[in-house]
Amino acid sequence: MSVKTPRQYYDEVLGALQDHHKAFNRYIPLIASENVPSPAVREALTTDFGNRYAEGWVGERVYAGCEWIDKVESICIDLEKRLFRAEFVDPRPISGVVSNLVVYTAFTEPGDTIMALPITCGGHITYGRKNLGGTAGAVTGLEVEYLPLDYEELNIDVDKTAQRLMKLVEDGKAPKLVIFGGSVFPFPHPVEELAGVFHDAGTMIHYDSAHVSGLIAGGKFQDPLREGVDTVTVSTHKTFFGPQHGTVLSWDKYAEPIKKATLPGLVSNHHLHALAGVAIASAEMLQFGEAYAEQVIKNSKALGQALYERGFKVLAEHKGFTESHILLIDITKYGDGGSVEKQLEKAGIIINRNLLPWDVKEGRHYMNPGGIRLGTAELTRLGMKETEMVEVAELMKRIVVDGDPPEKVQGDAAELRSGFEKVQYCFENATKAYEYVKIR
Ligand SMILES: Cc1ncc(COP(=O)(O)O)c(C=O)c1O
Repeated sequence: MSVKTPRQYYDEVLGALQDHHKAFNRYIPLIASENVPSPAVREALTTDFGNRYAEGWVGERVYAGCEWIDKVESICIDLEKRLFRAEFVDPRPISGVVSNLVVYTAFTEPGDTIMALPITCGGHITYGRKNLGGTAGAVTGLEVEYLPLDYEELNIDVDKTAQRLMKLVEDGKAPKLVIFGGSVFPFPHPVEELAGVFHDAGTMIHYDSAHVSGLIAGGKFQDPLREGVDTVTVSTHKTFFGPQHGTVLSWDKYAEPIKKATLPGLVSNHHLHALAGVAIASAEMLQFGEAYAEQVIKNSKALGQALYERGFKVLAEHKGFTESHILLIDITKYGDGGSVEKQLEKAGIIINRNLLPWDVKEGRHYMNPGGIRLGTAELTRLGMKETEMVEVAELMKRIVVDGDPPEKVQGDAAELRSGFEKVQYCFENATKAYEYVKIR
C-alpha cells in the first residue's frame, strides 16, 4: 500500500477548501448560527495580525510591535460601545463560548447555582450541567437549575421563573447568575419583567446574545443593557457580520473582573486578525445594520408563512412564527430532523436538525430529533428578500412534502442562488461572497 506524500496531503487539503467554496456558490445556506462576511473582513483575516501576540490591554501591552494592533483594537472597542450602547467592552474573548466562560470566571465560584434554559429548550451547551458535559457544570463546576419554557409561546415563563427562583432562595440556593438567551431564540426574552426579582435575590443577570447580536446592533431586537442586564456576551458571526470571534459587554463597574478573567484567565493570543475583522464588521453594522436587521426579520417571517402554507408545522404560528432570524419547525409528520436535514443537503439546502422542547420526553434523541431549525441571516446578507423566501419554501416543500428526489431540485436551488453572488450591506464587494482567493 503506497503512503501519500506530504505534497499529496497538501494538495488534498487545498483541493477540499476549493471544493467547499464551489459548493457554497450553489448552496442555500439556512444554518441559523452562520453568516458570510464581506470581502473586507476576509481580507483582514489574511493579514499578519493573525501571527502576532498583544497580551494586555490597549496601550498596556507586554509585547512590542503592537502600534497598529492597538489602533485597530481601540477602534473595535469604540465601535462596539456605539453599536450596543455599552459602557465597557472587552473584545478579546475569541468566541461566544470563551465569552461565556469569561463571565462565569469573573462572577461565579465552583459550587454556585446558576439558572439557564436547558439544551432541550434552546439553551446552549455552555449552560449545560456536569453530567451532560456542559461548560457551566463540567468546566466551571456550577450547579445548573433550569429556567422554565412555555412551549406554546416558545419563551421563558415569567411566573414559573419567579416561583422557581423563590424556591431556590428558600432552599438556600439563591442563584449567583441567571442567563437569558439561547440557541433557539425566536422571541425577545422577558428580561425587563424578571430583572427586579433576580436582582432582589442577589442574582447577576447575564444575557447571551450570541444568536441575536446583529439584530440588537441593528436596533431591531430587545436592548438587554437597557432592560437591566449586567453582562452581555456576543458571537460576532451569527447575525453579526463576522468573522468568528467573541466579546463581553458590560458596565464600567464590572470592567476589572472581566478584564482579568479574559487575560490571564482565558486568552493569551486573542486572534488579532479576527479582531480586525470584527472592527470592520462593526463599521459595516453601524452603517448598514438597521436595514439589514429589519430585512432579516421580514425574511424569517415570510419564510415561516410560506412554509406554513405549504404544510410545514412552523411553531409559534399565533405569534407570526418569529421576531428574529430563527424558525423552529416540528418535522415529525415527514420523518425526523436528521433524515430531513440529509435530504435537503442533497439538494444544496443547508439546515440543521434540532430538538423540540418536548422531544426527550417523547423518546427522541438529538441525532434524530423531531425538529429542524432555520435562520435567514446569511440569505439576507446575500441580498434575498421576501419573494426569494417563498421560492426557498417551495424548494423545501418539493423535497419534504411532495417527496421529489433532491437531485431533481438541486438545479433549481443553484439557479435561485446564482442571482445572489455578492455580499450586501457592506462598503465594497468586488469579490464574490464565496470566491476562493488564491494567494500562493
Ligand atoms: C446561545 C449561544 N451561545 C454561545 C454560542 C457559542 O458561540 P461560539 O460558536 O462563538 O463559541 C452559541 C453557538 O452556537 C450559541 O448558540
